[in-house]
Amino acid sequence: MIGVAGLGYWGPNLARNFAELGRLSWLCDLDGGLRAEVAARYPGARATASYDEMLADDELQGVVIATPVPTHYALAKQALEAGKHVLVEKPPAMRAAEIDELSALAAAQKLVLMPGHLLLYHPGVRKLKELIDAGELGDVLCVYGNRQNLGIVRTNENALWSLGVHDLSVILYLLDEEPAEAVAYGRDFLTEGVEDVVFCYLRFPSGKIAHMHLSWLDPHKMRKMTVVGREKMVVFDDMELERKVTVYEKSPWKRAESYGEWQTRSGDIYIPKIATDEPLKLECQEFLNLIAGGGDRLKVAEDGARVVRALERLTDSLRG
Ligand SMILES: NC(=O)c1ccc[n+]([C@@H]2O[C@H](COP(=O)([O-])OP(=O)(O)OC[C@H]3O[C@@H](n4cnc5c(N)ncnc54)[C@H](O)[C@@H]3O)[C@@H](O)[C@H]2O)c1
Repeated sequence: MIGVAGLGYWGPNLARNFAELGRLSWLCDLDGGLRAEVAARYPGARATASYDEMLADDELQGVVIATPVPTHYALAKQALEAGKHVLVEKPPAMRAAEIDELSALAAAQKLVLMPGHLLLYHPGVRKLKELIDAGELGDVLCVYGNRQNLGIVRTNENALWSLGVHDLSVILYLLDEEPAEAVAYGRDFLTEGVEDVVFCYLRFPSGKIAHMHLSWLDPHKMRKMTVVGREKMVVFDDMELERKVTVYEKSPWKRAESYGEWQTRSGDIYIPKIATDEPLKLECQEFLNLIAGGGDRLKVAEDGARVVRALERLTDSLRG
């Protein structure tokens, strides 16, 4: 059975999914009003303000942590030490040393430590990965993410931490490499010390490069990831309802008869069918699957650690 800690904005979505999967047994939040409101929807689950009380339940197998980011490390550590599997919202920790410690603890205890990188369960992102891994695009050269909008203006978390974690998790998942170089530039226009506009550059050992434009000071509402391969290019656009993924048969090539001059080739543009399954449901199912011994729990924990390590380097660069 599963307990959800943190019932603010995001936690109730997780609670709903575990309830629908028939596994929700605990609801935990320090805020009595929120707790009562969510608990009223799930009479079969016990509600508490005490994380300790929830962890003391021997029937509880896993804990889902949807509390503010600075609390993730301590709560995840406590749950792992209590012998519980952990699904922790993004980002799973603030510092690389913290996530490395949590990963080692989970491995030693033979427990699941899964980061809540929602987009990795999005069927559109899965399609990108499938196309890349099948060699459909040819060699991947570069990837870039756009996550821009006008608002929500955050005052406690900058655009890199609030928006960038999503794109970073996708880029690292698609390329399956740790960056050799991670550089970020940005400015805090609205709230001192909280960057509203951030540009990031990543270079990988294989020579691939990536970029992220993250901003809530922008006229465009964009949630887009573009992958440029030597033979084809593909765009995942999460603002589209039906055309989530578009594959462009566009590429440069050299014509022998024109003495090595580059030409461009524009072939078909096609839109593969993408399942409409709710990514959060797939994420919750994967947590239960990992608990049951399916999947690769070490890889999942490492995916989370890789994101935190890159975030830390980008943050150091931004502040440097
Ligand atoms: N995957 C996504 O798309 C997505 C979207 C939104 C938020 N999130 C993540 O979810 C997490 C929560 O974000 P939010 O916007 O819901 O925050 P929030 O501030 O709305 O809610 C956090 C809740 O945690 C509770 N809380 C704090 N400390 C606690 C403790 N020790 N024990 C029990 N409850 C405690 C607070 O009372 C509050 O109700 C963050 O990590 C955020 O990054 C993920």
